[in-house]
Amino acid sequence: MKSLCKLTVEIAGLGSHLPERVLSNADLEQMVDTSDGWITKRTGIRERRIAAETEATSDLAVVAARNALAEAGLSPANVEAIIVTTCTPDYLFPATACLVQTALGADNALPYDLEAACCGFLFGLAQGGALVVAGVTENALVIGAETLSRFTDYTDRRSCILFGDAAGAAVLTRSTGTGEIIFCEMGGDGSRQELLMIPGGGSRRPPTHETVDNADHFMKLQGREVFRCAVSKLGELLVRIPQETGISLDDIKLIIPHQSNVRIIRSICERAGIPEEKAYVNIDRVGNTSAASIPIAMDEAVQKGVLQRGDLVLLLAFGGGITWGSMLLRY
Ligand code: UT7
Repeated sequence: MKSLCKLTVEIAGLGSHLPERVLSNADLEQMVDTSDGWITKRTGIRERRIAAETEATSDLAVVAARNALAEAGLSPANVEAIIVTTCTPDYLFPATACLVQTALGADNALPYDLEAACCGFLFGLAQGGALVVAGVTENALVIGAETLSRFTDYTDRRSCILFGDAAGAAVLTRSTGTGEIIFCEMGGDGSRQELLMIPGGGSRRPPTHETVDNADHFMKLQGREVFRCAVSKLGELLVRIPQETGISLDDIKLIIPHQSNVRIIRSICERAGIPEEKAYVNIDRVGNTSAASIPIAMDEAVQKGVLQRGDLVLLLAFGGGITWGSMLLRY
């Protein structure tokens, strides 16, 4: 799906939250046959955060949401839509957005979840933007939140080194200044579903002793193939930005790619002839946090002054499904 029509919405506030516990590469060396050297060189990750036993996805989401609402100056009672994007919900149902709604006291909001793995936040922004522009709601609180550690097999060194827990949120309102969504392209290919999935625990393979014994409730990742597809698809998306919008990549202040592997980020920059410094990277500190990755990075970039009002920012995502997306925004 491509969309050239401008969505006249702005990000009125951003927020993020990382749980306290740090899981370092040195800690992982004690758990599986790996090394800090291998993980750093092959992924760029040095540490990631892990939710406390008492914390679930909605708990992380609520803190990020409160921060975003405070920055936007919007009270919970005035939130009209809550879209939680997650592939690690508190429950199969009710939706995590309902739990967030009640914890925030956002009694007047329409709460629902959207699942698109690592592309969740980007898809959520597009959907929240469409709700606001269509006049269905006045605003939308879009949250990417994950507790991937609960679905990670800490005996599988090929995947357990990658993932972390976190949440990020954005408040979308009708544009009052220069903010807008200029272009977005989103897509997917379900025939590649096996590349990255949790095979057990759903209606296809409901939980049984056997699924648990087989560790089917944990994430399965075909890392090398996901890597190859991500580089290829994100490269295509980048090339199309100037073609579709007439905006040169040189004019974009910051690229915020989903943080899955620093080598993926470097590779797409190199192929597109973009200086590496144009891509925001925090994977060294947070690992891959799926739907939470882009809003956390964006919030950090704003806090650090790297991204300022009026700047052009390009979001890029790729993940399970498989799914992908690009979104060019004026912040
Ligand atoms: O969010 C979107 C979804 N996720 C991704 O985008 C992840 C994309 N994939 C990746 O980031 C990379 O493929 C990984 C980091 C997962 C793996 O890196 P790689 O360079 O593709 O390694 P590989 O799977 O090709 O494995 C190379 C070697 C293998 O050893 P042999 O068979 O050559 O002897 C692995 O067993 O590295 C070994 N290996 C490890 N060694 C030490 C794999 N994981 C580890 C490890 N520590 N943690």
